[in-house]
Order: sequence, then structure tokens, then C-alpha cells
Amino acid sequence: MRGRMEQLEKLKRIAQGKDELEEALNRALDIIEACDDIESIGKARISVLGKKGIIARVFKKIKDAPEDERPILGQFGNLLKRVAEEELDLKEKWLKAALQEKKLSEMAIDVTLPGRGRSLGRRHILSITISEITSIFISLGYRVVYGPEVELDYYNFEALNTPAYHPARSLQDTFYLKRKDPIKDSREDVLLRTHTSPVQVRVMESTKPPLYVISPGKAYRRDEIDATHSAVFHQVEGFAVDRHISMGDLKGTLEAFAKKLFGEERKVRFRPHFFPFTEPSAEVDVSCFACDTAGCSLCKGVGWLEIMGCGMIDPNVFSYVGYDPEEYQGFAFGMGVERIAMMKHGIDDMRLFYENDVRFLRQFHI
Ligand code: DAH
Repeated sequence: MRGRMEQLEKLKRIAQGKDELEEALNRALDIIEACDDIESIGKARISVLGKKGIIARVFKKIKDAPEDERPILGQFGNLLKRVAEEELDLKEKWLKAALQEKKLSEMAIDVTLPGRGRSLGRRHILSITISEITSIFISLGYRVVYGPEVELDYYNFEALNTPAYHPARSLQDTFYLKRKDPIKDSREDVLLRTHTSPVQVRVMESTKPPLYVISPGKAYRRDEIDATHSAVFHQVEGFAVDRHISMGDLKGTLEAFAKKLFGEERKVRFRPHFFPFTEPSAEVDVSCFACDTAGCSLCKGVGWLEIMGCGMIDPNVFSYVGYDPEEYQGFAFGMGVERIAMMKHGIDDMRLFYENDVRFLRQFHI
């Protein structure tokens, strides 16, 4: 086949001087030229090559034309048809390629864009604090034991020497799940443990001394929730039972612990206190981090911060578990995890621990 340009030149030559043919050629070329998408190609095919299109009208003229013009009309019509088909096909191909190119460039992935960040989870500050506390005691030879959170009155109160009608046993302070008598305490009442101390009784009841045990876990109290109270909170309980255990062992152990946890420069003091299950009992304070006993706003002018309760296990508790107090002695201690984490990290509102605000949580690294 001859080249496009040559064919076009030939068409122009044939049409030259014949207004109708020149007009038909120009209109056909203009229509094809104006096509700018696949849809307009379809329309152009109809108006140029269709039954009532420009070329069809050229052929129609043949029968009325003078004899000598007929072959020219025929030749022109045939050539215009071939040229128009070729031009439309070419244009269609070109438009399809352009469309494809556009689609591909839209789908393309920009490999220079920064990737999407993935945030790593990390341990909760309360879990970290529990680990720090327990690992100090593990290094002293203690083992970790867990007790149930749904507990019997017997373990939570009675065997811990907490008498009936003790204020802690009141309906205002304790979540009871099953209460035998609404007025009278019963050792079979079922409750959410109000402290981790019942683990002492459970372990002693089933195991012979020597015992060196640490027991972290949740405890529950019917407290209004505020900056320093929560209905669910965490404690770490600890106790030791052995022969020849004295108050000196208790003081040495807890002093070593407090300095490991809060820093060797801290001073530790023991203040007499009362707990039903220990005798004598004490509260342990560390010197205030901010003022080192001088008194400031952090320690409310006291100079010291209370970190836990402790004491020598009351012989009455031993009698519940069948230990002979003449043979064995023991000490026990219990601390609030939230309180310790708040002091260590300067947190002033306990609710922050439970609100799951990552801006708070992510400050604490493992
Ligand atoms: N159970 C006590 C409380 O919840 C804390 C405590 C004090 C535990 C003295 C002990 C202890 O083992 O000896 O406040």
C-alpha cells in the first residue's frame, strides 16, 4: 500500500477544483482530526463511513453525474474510504495507547514515599512495676505464687485474724458475690479479695516451711474512683516463714528491697502501726525523693513517703494453718503497686493507669 501522505495528495489532486469533493474531503479530515477519545472515534466512523455518511453521499451522486465524471467520483469515493478507515484505525490505536499509559501511571507506586509506621506494643507500666518488685525478691530466693481473685471470707478475713464485724468486712467496703446471711459474717461468704494477703493462708495451709513467697495480683474494694483510689488495683504480697525469723530479718529484707527499687541513697524507716494479721506491725517509709526528709509538697511536709505495711505474722494466723508458733516464726508485707509506680515516676493521678491513653503509656520503656 502506498504511504499515507501519497494517498492524501492523490485525493487532493482528484478533488481539486471540484467544490463538492473538496468539501467532502475537508469535512472528513476535520471530523477525524477532532477525535480526542475512543467514543468520538465511533461517532466519526458513522458520520464519515456510515450508510448516510460523507462517503455514501459521494457514491450517491454517481447515478446523476455526467458519464465522464462517474469514474472520478467512484475513484475518489473508494480512495477516501480507504484513507478514512486507515486514519480512524490509527487514531483509535493511538488513543487507546494513551489511555493505557494514563491508567498505568495512575496505578504506579511511588517507591520514594515514606512507609506507614507500625507502632510496637509495650508492657504496661503497672506490669513493669510488678516485674521490678518481684524480681528483687526472686533474687533474694523468693518464689512467685498466685492466688484466686474470687475468694472465700475465710481466707480473706477470718484466717487472717480479722474478727467478725471488723469495718473492712462491711458491705460498704467489700464486693460480696455470695453472702449467706445479710447481717452476719460467714466464713463461706464469697467475695472479691480486698487484698492479696489471703495467699499467705492458702500457701501456708498446703505447704510446710521454710517459705519465701511473693504474690502479685489484683485486689478489689468498693472505693469511689478518684486520683488516689480505684475499685480494682494491684498489690504485691510477700512473706517468709522459717525457724529463727526475727523482726531484724524483716527490717533487713525490706530495707534492701526499698533501696534496690528506689535508689541506694534513700533512707528507710519503720513506723509502728496495726494490722490484724501481724504483731507487731509497722508501716515502711522511704525518705522523700524531692526533699530527702526536709519536708515539701510531694511528701506533704512529712519528709517521708509510705510504701508498704508489714509485720511479724500473728501466732493466731499460724493456728489457722496448723503451724506451731514455738517452732516457726514469719514476717509478712504488702504494698500497693499503683502507689509505688506513682511515686517512682511522679504520676499524680491513678486513673491514668486505666484510661489506656497511649500518650501516657508510651512514656514508659521496658
Ligand atoms: N493487706 C494489707 C492491705 O491491704 C497490706 C499488708 C500489711 C500486708 C501488712 C501484709 C502485712 O502482709 O504484713 O492494706
